[in-house]
Amino acid sequence: MKRIVVAIIGITILTLSSCQKQIETADYQVVPLPKEISLTDKKPFILDKNTVIECQKDLQKEADFLADYIEDIYGFRPRIMDAENDMNNVIYLALEPNDFANDEAYQIVVNERVIKITSRNNHGIFYGIQTLRKSFPVDNNVTKIAFPAGVINDWPRFAYRGMHLDVSRHFFPIDSIKVYIDAMVMHNLNKFHLHITDDQGWRIEIKKYPKLTEIGAWRSGTLIGKTMAYDTIRHGGCYTQEELRDLVKYAEDRHITIIPEIDLPGHMLAALASYPELGCTGGPYEVWKRWGVSEDVICAGNEHAMQFLEDVLLEVMDIFPSEYIHIGGDEVPRDRWKECPKCQAKIKELGIKADDKHSAEDYLQSYVMSRMEQFVENHGRHIIGWDEMLDGELAPNATVMSWRGSSGGVKAAKMHHNVIMTPNDYLYFDYYQTLDTDNEPFSIGGYNPVKKVYSYEPIPDGLDEDEHKYILGPQANIWTEYTSEFNVLLYRLLPRIGALAEVQWCNPEQKDYEDWVQREYRLTKLYKLYGWRYATHIFDIDVRITPNVKEGFIEVVMSKLVDGKIVYSIDNQNDIEYKEPLRITENCHLEGYVLRPDGSQGRVFRTDFDFSKASMKPIVLMEQPHKNYTFNGADVLIDGLRGSTNYRSGRWLGWYGKNADVIIDLQEVTEVSTVKFNLNINMKDWIFNARSVKVLVSDDGDDFEEVFAQDFDLLSADYTGSLYPVEITFSPVNTRYIEIVITPFDCPECHSGYGYPAWIFVDEIGVY
Ligand code: ACM
Ligand code: ZN
Repeated sequence: MKRIVVAIIGITILTLSSCQKQIETADYQVVPLPKEISLTDKKPFILDKNTVIECQKDLQKEADFLADYIEDIYGFRPRIMDAENDMNNVIYLALEPNDFANDEAYQIVVNERVIKITSRNNHGIFYGIQTLRKSFPVDNNVTKIAFPAGVINDWPRFAYRGMHLDVSRHFFPIDSIKVYIDAMVMHNLNKFHLHITDDQGWRIEIKKYPKLTEIGAWRSGTLIGKTMAYDTIRHGGCYTQEELRDLVKYAEDRHITIIPEIDLPGHMLAALASYPELGCTGGPYEVWKRWGVSEDVICAGNEHAMQFLEDVLLEVMDIFPSEYIHIGGDEVPRDRWKECPKCQAKIKELGIKADDKHSAEDYLQSYVMSRMEQFVENHGRHIIGWDEMLDGELAPNATVMSWRGSSGGVKAAKMHHNVIMTPNDYLYFDYYQTLDTDNEPFSIGGYNPVKKVYSYEPIPDGLDEDEHKYILGPQANIWTEYTSEFNVLLYRLLPRIGALAEVQWCNPEQKDYEDWVQREYRLTKLYKLYGWRYATHIFDIDVRITPNVKEGFIEVVMSKLVDGKIVYSIDNQNDIEYKEPLRITENCHLEGYVLRPDGSQGRVFRTDFDFSKASMKPIVLMEQPHKNYTFNGADVLIDGLRGSTNYRSGRWLGWYGKNADVIIDLQEVTEVSTVKFNLNINMKDWIFNARSVKVLVSDDGDDFEEVFAQDFDLLSADYTGSLYPVEITFSPVNTRYIEIVITPFDCPECHSGYGYPAWIFVDEIGVY
């Protein structure tokens, strides 16, 4: 019997080799890359309509997933059967008490007759299945898939592989969250941090406090972009306990634990709007329509408020079986507690004293966190809190989530506390992933490109070897102030989660960015299959533009990482294949893109070069910009490149509380009558228009004469533009030196920065 089957397979392979279309080969070079892959040149396993999945009873659920994955791509679904002795054309799943590194480790052995996935636990089997499904060629014309013979041994580097989602700033339906979980599954993640309450919306049904969702789940409007204006669209939503239990099961079936976060004692305006008596002032409060940090927090001196938090946590623990409950603790201003008689009485009662490091109110926060920790521990769970927990006395058993960079993680690990690394500068996926922000979904700002995510090393410098064990693993976060649509959420997630997956799963010596890009590119076929929107920057043309001010040209270097050729055009003339760097010396419009082997085009890069009489001329800054916004210095203003709406792109200089005051040497006496530049406007980030602009001229660079001066009104709070173009003209004058002085406002009374200076951001200064 056995021999006959082998013979039939042999014939099948022969037949297929003359019918190339129907057979394709699987590729185990997946994301995240398995630890060990050793292939032999023995005959491959052929998966086809007759393949069956055999498994032990305990692995039925995992087998179902595998069958689903095969059906999703190829349209046929393998039968699932109990394991038999004589196996042929079988994918076999088995728990074995072998020498695996941990419960998530697995082995895949492929030979001509069987693909065998083993682990000591269902978790490992599941990850073996993930690796196998990602090795499939994604092509529904294929009816047979050849799996090269060999052995894969694999296990994760970190036990905690997290992804976070904020459903407070914007509400996402349960079905969308399930898709988000599916994306986590595809990248071998195992912890889902659900940020389920915040100032802008309370999203979890709490039976004892129904107003939390009746009132707290809804806000009457939302801040528009980076302005000070609001829409009047009611936004909100909440999840019933039943829905959340279903979500917990959905995740659990996929080997993911949901860690809920009730952010306390700050970020609680939605709760305060529902129950104003829980706040220090008693309100009234409203569910917040804007972003940032509210001074209104839970009253730490009110025993009812503490009871409220415990009641909420009790219901939360009943819904979410997770070992960890996140209790927040970030961004808690002390203003209200300082003024509140109850809070001050509590400080006295507890005998809290300020010291040279911390205020009494800092220790009051520690009291709240420790008390909540004790409550959670009494119920057999542990807490996670943000790294602000270190600003005072750290709750005894807390796991610290290091978000303000990595230093909190280092400090906590040195105190022998467990740590989860979520540094904003590498792992906040709400930040932009490109500097070309004008063509991106609007974002909170920042810049975390995929390559930077990939480069992240979760064990921070400064820890001794024996302290490494406290770093449980890394997690990326998506806050949703500026993400209301689910496809934008996916776009922020993908493909950065593919980079995160290798940070979490692979050893550092395994990581190779360019190799990963190839593997990730293949994975996007699965993204497409499931209809998930993803960002394509890393598969598209990359353009590096470097002004050479000394020699008076701009160098343009184009590159790409995936197959295809680079094509560019100047002023929309003919497409030219890119061979070597371009030198730009005059105004033009440049476009470029990757033309893929299948004829499809990547994203088109576009830019304008905008030269003026000031371009590439010596320039002196009379006032230094802020060190964070100096970039390449003064040349940024005369390099022929205009800034986008993103003031962090490197094409803007930013001054804080000072004039932007520059002198340009036109190098010969030149007639000038116009000066043009843009100001970046981002009122939320304290960036406004100019109070005044002056132009002065000089023949010797010492004595300047004013030729233009104008005062401007502050832009109104409902100005929604990100750029404010300034064009000034004056009677033509012949001059060698020209000085431009741009004076900022102070933050206005209606603004959170009232009493402080505002920023001024200037890009290319054109002189005509
Ligand atoms: C945070 O980003 N506020 C934890
Ligand atoms: Zn109080």
